[in-house]
Amino acid sequence: MGKVYTYEEVQQHRSAESCWVILYGNVYDVTTFVPEHPGGSRIILQLAGQDATEEYDPIHPPGTLEEALPASAKIGTIDESTLPAVEKAPADDPAVEESLMTLDDCLNMDDIEKLATQKMSKKAWAYYYSAGDDLISKRLNNTVYRNILLRPRVFHDVTKCDTSSTLLGNKVNIPLFVSPAAMARLGHPDGEHGIAQACRTYGACQIISNNASQTPEQICAGAAPDQIFGWQLYVNMDIKKSEDMIRRVSKIPQIKFIVLTLDAPVPGKREDDEREGKNVGANLPVRSAAQEGSSSTTTPSPTAASVPTKQGSGSVAAAMFAGTACDLTWHTTLPWLAAQTSLPIVLKGVQTHEDVELAARFAPQIQAVILSNHGGRSADTSPPSIHTLLECKKFCPHVFDSLELWVDGGIKRGTDIVKALALGAKGVGMGRNALFGLGAGGTAGVERVFEILKAEMETAMRLLCVGEIGQLNARHVNARAVERDIFDGVPQGYEEAGLWAKAKKRASKL
Ligand code: LAC
Repeated sequence: MGKVYTYEEVQQHRSAESCWVILYGNVYDVTTFVPEHPGGSRIILQLAGQDATEEYDPIHPPGTLEEALPASAKIGTIDESTLPAVEKAPADDPAVEESLMTLDDCLNMDDIEKLATQKMSKKAWAYYYSAGDDLISKRLNNTVYRNILLRPRVFHDVTKCDTSSTLLGNKVNIPLFVSPAAMARLGHPDGEHGIAQACRTYGACQIISNNASQTPEQICAGAAPDQIFGWQLYVNMDIKKSEDMIRRVSKIPQIKFIVLTLDAPVPGKREDDEREGKNVGANLPVRSAAQEGSSSTTTPSPTAASVPTKQGSGSVAAAMFAGTACDLTWHTTLPWLAAQTSLPIVLKGVQTHEDVELAARFAPQIQAVILSNHGGRSADTSPPSIHTLLECKKFCPHVFDSLELWVDGGIKRGTDIVKALALGAKGVGMGRNALFGLGAGGTAGVERVFEILKAEMETAMRLLCVGEIGQLNARHVNARAVERDIFDGVPQGYEEAGLWAKAKKRASKL
């Protein structure tokens, strides 16, 4: 059982020399762990002597404490009656809640994001919303779709409209999938499991984030037998950790493929997240609706201010990327992965046709690539996935024969999905929509996201006189304005081999 401590006693241990924290009603002495904390020592010291549950819980899946700390670190329990009173966040106020839109009032993704922004904690908003540097790629991911025009046909019976398709041979009711998006419980306690429930309702695929706030088993619990999941892999510097996880997820029958993420060996510079990270402690006394039910905390620790900070420290991204290996290569990582799993590999974050061509050489171990710039969260000014898709059509159309090309980033409308499919994408992913859906209303919010986008897709398909996904093709869109902007240089290695002229000739015939 251990000793029962008062809050005042715990408050005496607020420095790097003696650091205690309260988590889930228990008191931990984490002094020796402080320098090793993957998210940096500053964040722990800011919470030293306090109840850190509200900060800790949404970003650490169950099992993390047990893995990180020896059993002896748990030195007792807290006398809850000695904890300071909790101040309520504005969204917890029934009057504020009443003034907000309902999910039914939300008609599009902007409405969902607005509602989520009002309901979520500032920290969740900052992490989800943030993107690299000046958010240029994040914005372009969306606006690029507006520069592609539809070419509606007329005079066909459009009574029937079927959005079903397949991803790697697995049937889905809609080729709109949820891209790996980390820390869903930051936005709502339903978390990734809530997203899975919504995907079940809509027959959609979900790629589980390597940095999910719930375990893969929790997320897939209650999944339909024919429900499809992928699992995202960020290779850990401690490679055994990744090997163990691959083994673990391979036992879940609904997980059909591994998504090796390549566009973020390091995170981009995300200033909204970083700014909010600097604030931790300042906003601690306020509880968000999302964390209702957990006990809270008081004032920031004075010791934290003296801890030196480096770029991004204290941000959610800094915690997420701690431990991520950045030495992956085609010739070392793929053979290693082949030895770990027989599940198909999907490469996520490919941003040039050259890399898609390379990926195609590894088919069938690699069965799909996700053209993605990580929601604009990595290299700012990197191209939207639609550019890379068009590049592939122009320079290496043969890759469509050996790989499925999926895209993600910037999807806000059903017409965006239809345009990507018409240009040859087999699947279309969304990350923030699912997270903001959660923030707006938990599982029901994610269902509303699917409901809106599916209905918009069906309308667009009918107006194009398309009854099935397989009928969509490049003649349904006019992408000329975007084609003008895509890469047009000579691809590496082509000029010397005389391949460039051939490729150009081939492209001109398309
Ligand atoms: C991110 C990672 C964790 O973009 O994928 O924050």
